[in-house]
Amino acid sequence: MKIYYFDNSATSSPKPESIYKVVESAMKEFNANPGRAGHRKAVEAGRKIYEVREKIAKFFNIKNSLNIAFTANATESLNFAIKGGIPQNSHVITTNFEHNSVLRPLFYMQDEKDIKLTFVNTYDEIEKNITSETKAVVINHISNVNGTIQNIEEIGKICKKHNLLFILDASQSAGYSYIDMEKHNISILCLTGHKSIFGIQGIGAICIKDEIKIEPILEGGTGSFSKLSRQPKEMPEMLEAGTLNTPGILSLGAGIDFINEIGLKNIKKHEDILIEKFIIGLNKLEKIKVYKSFTKDQGPVVSLNIEGIDSGDLAQILDEEFGILVRPGFHCAPLAHKAIGTYEIGAVRFSFGYFNTEEEIDYALDALKNITLQI
Ligand SMILES: Cc1ncc(COP(=O)(O)O)c(C=O)c1O
Repeated sequence: MKIYYFDNSATSSPKPESIYKVVESAMKEFNANPGRAGHRKAVEAGRKIYEVREKIAKFFNIKNSLNIAFTANATESLNFAIKGGIPQNSHVITTNFEHNSVLRPLFYMQDEKDIKLTFVNTYDEIEKNITSETKAVVINHISNVNGTIQNIEEIGKICKKHNLLFILDASQSAGYSYIDMEKHNISILCLTGHKSIFGIQGIGAICIKDEIKIEPILEGGTGSFSKLSRQPKEMPEMLEAGTLNTPGILSLGAGIDFINEIGLKNIKKHEDILIEKFIIGLNKLEKIKVYKSFTKDQGPVVSLNIEGIDSGDLAQILDEEFGILVRPGFHCAPLAHKAIGTYEIGAVRFSFGYFNTEEEIDYALDALKNITLQI
C-alpha cells in the first residue's frame, strides 16, 4: 500500500537525499569528538560544525555565530531559555497555543520560582496584559494544532518598546516562515532540527542575542576551560555541556543548504497551496469539523474531527484502510485543545511538508469523504 505521510509537524519525512548522505559521511569521515583534541579528525569535525553555525547565523540573521549553541531539540533549548533566562518573581505573557516543552518549564517556574503567567490566544492581546512586573514574552510562532501564526514582527516591536525578553519557539516555523533575529527583535530563538529544517532527530539549537544573559542549567564537559570548577560563561560552551551530535549538526547544515537551494519563499508557497486546497476541500464535506487558525494566516497544519468517530479510531482507519499517516489526540498542547474546544475529545491532525503534493491532498479528501459516507 502506498503511504501518505501527513505528520510533518511531528517530524518531516522524507528528508532530502543530501541529509542521508551527510549523516553517513559524518559517521564515516568526521567520526571524531569535535573540540576534544587537536588531532586532524577532531579539528576537521570542529571545522564542519563551525560552518553549520555560520549557516544558521546567516539564515536567521544572527550577528555573532558563537551565540548559537547546539542542543538536542527545541525542548532542551526552551528549558535553557525559560529556566535560565526568566527572572524569579516576574510576570510572563505566553499563549494558549504553547507546546508542553514551553508549558511545563513555565509551570515549573510558576511553582518553584514564583513567576506569574498570563495566557493569550493571539499576539494582539499581549500589550494590554503587560504590567510593571512583566519581564518576558514566550511565543509559539506556529501552532502545531491549528496552524495559528503569531505575528513576530509586531511582538518584537512590543518587546522592544517595553524592554521585554522575547523567547520564540520556532519549532513549527523555522524552514517555513521568514525569521530574522535582528529585524524581529528576538532575544532567544529556539529551534528543533528535525521538522521543516529537514535534519535528523536529536538536534536543535538555541540562539541568543549578545546582550541577553542567561544562566546555564546543565553543566559538564566542554573540551575547553577544563580547569574551571563551574560551567564557562562563554557562548557557545556555556550551553554545550557534553559531546555534540556531529551527524545531527551536519544534517541541520545540509537542511539549511536544501532550503536555500529551493528558496524559503518557494517552500512556503508550496505548503500554502496544499493547506488552502485541503481546507477548501474539507469545507465541502459534511460531518467534518475543522479547527482553523485563530489568525488570518494558517501554517501547514490543520486539525479536524468526524462526527461520531473517536480521533484515535479515525487515525487508525486512515492508516489501515488508506495508508494515510496522521496524528490524533492532544499533540502535547493541552491548552490549544481547550482553546479550540477539543480538550475532552482530541482531534486528528494533518500536517503537510515540502514533499507532499496536490495529488496527495486530493487522495486525503477522497479518503475522508469515503469515511463520512460510511457513517
Ligand atoms: C510548537 C512546538 N514546540 C516544541 C516542540 C518540541 O520539539 P522537540 O520534540 O523536537 O523538542 C514541538 C514538537 O512537536 C512543537 O510542535
